[in-house]
Amino acid sequence: MRYVTTCLSDICTSVCTRGIVAVGLGLVMTCSAYAEDITVSEKAFSCLSEGTKIRNTYIKHADPEKLKEAVRIFKNSVPDKEYPVGTFLQLLPDEAMVKHPRAKFPDTNGWEFFALDLSEQGTKIKTRGDKVVNFQGVQCFSCHQPAAKFDFVCEKGHGCAPVPLDDPKIAELQEADPRCRKK
Ligand code: HEC
Repeated sequence: MRYVTTCLSDICTSVCTRGIVAVGLGLVMTCSAYAEDITVSEKAFSCLSEGTKIRNTYIKHADPEKLKEAVRIFKNSVPDKEYPVGTFLQLLPDEAMVKHPRAKFPDTNGWEFFALDLSEQGTKIKTRGDKVVNFQGVQCFSCHQPAAKFDFVCEKGHGCAPVPLDDPKIAELQEADPRCRKK
């Protein structure tokens, strides 16, 4: 009798475990099919110098491991490699690129462009999406498109038309970010 009970409970354990494994597997598969999107609110933007600066660009990611990965890709100009979802890139304080899953903006590999209004009180989003234009009325993506091999990150030497600002001017605009508390 005891043998039967043990056996039954063994069967039950095995069936239950398999059930849980199957449900777990299902969840993992669902999750990877719909790579999680991020919500980008005005609060997600802050003083530029809170990011990690590589050459002219500030990089941010809420997850330190993914920030490391984004910095590695940027620093080494790794070709044919997509930035982690949730990566924020900024050259100028009032413009940004934020990475979503590809499905959200298929034409730009998931990059959303932002034009921002800045003040000491914080950030207001002027325009956002994959068709944003810059301060000269030129579409962000029209300039960034030639850098397709680098996930549309221009830097210098990735094929984009240059911005009409030299490096000292870029640095000056970065330092003038009104959101940074003056010490
Ligand atoms: C005239 C072409 C041009 C336009 C228009 C343009 N960009 Fe860029 N962008 C560049 C170039 C070139 C760089 C690299 C500059 C450097 O690193 O010195 C760059 C750099 C950047 C970077 C840093 C990462 C990278 O790609 O190197 C971000 C973020 C960015 N631009 C966002 C935008 C946004 C947002 C807009 C629209 C509001 C925009 N850009 C419009 C040419 C352009």
